[in-house]
Amino acid sequence: MRTILVLNAKGGCGKSTISTNLASYYAAEMGKKVVLADYDPQASSMAWLQARDSSREPITGIAAWKNPLKCPRDTDVLIMDAPARVHGKELTQLLHKVETILFPLMPSPIDIRAATDYLQELQASGRVKRKQIKIGIIANRVRENTIIFTELYDFIKRLKLPYVATLRDTQNYIKAEERGLGIFELPPSQVWQDLADWEPLVKWLKSKRSRP
Ligand SMILES: Nc1ncnc2c1ncn2[C@@H]1O[C@H](COP(=O)(O)OP(=O)(O)O)[C@@H](O)[C@H]1O
Ligand SMILES: [Mg+2]
Repeated sequence: MRTILVLNAKGGCGKSTISTNLASYYAAEMGKKVVLADYDPQASSMAWLQARDSSREPITGIAAWKNPLKCPRDTDVLIMDAPARVHGKELTQLLHKVETILFPLMPSPIDIRAATDYLQELQASGRVKRKQIKIGIIANRVRENTIIFTELYDFIKRLKLPYVATLRDTQNYIKAEERGLGIFELPPSQVWQDLADWEPLVKWLKSKRSRP
């Protein structure tokens, strides 16, 4: 089973958006059996699943903030949507079986500052130090040609971690979210730019570089 955790200590940086779109990608595009485990009591991923029409490829939701994580035996991909502010012991527990972390970062000075400390904490954890977990950075809600994106870009380059995608700021994610869909399930004529944004991310996830 492939296990991917979407993590950042900041709220609102796109963890749930990336988790749900990834779930949609694996289920609808790849025909995989997907479990979407929501660790946030705010339950954005669970709400997304509730909005999802039963005619769509099924995705199993687990309200993991309150229930034990019991995946069906035939699960191909487990996507874990983290809450904000997971530290210390709680973070260690969350990392237990993860092989890949996706770390979304927004172009905002506060988010960049917060990420510096959090990435340090993350990189000091045993499993990351032992290279049992690979971390990929995603720039999210990007508006090209802005000064703050240039600052974010420079920051990411200095991290020496794989920079795996730049996702633009677009209503398409909000339109998809309302219907329990991912951008992969919207008309390609509407989302072609976003599909192109996801290409390097999906490629990285397929490659050995994203696995221990
Ligand atoms: N690339 C994007 N473009 C536009 N809106 C986005 C994008 N990514 C996230 N959002 C919106 O930002 C808000 C916060 O995103 P969310 O995924 O819930 O963050 P988190 O789970 O990290 O708290 C949501 O309303 C979501 O629809
Ligand atoms: Mg969330």
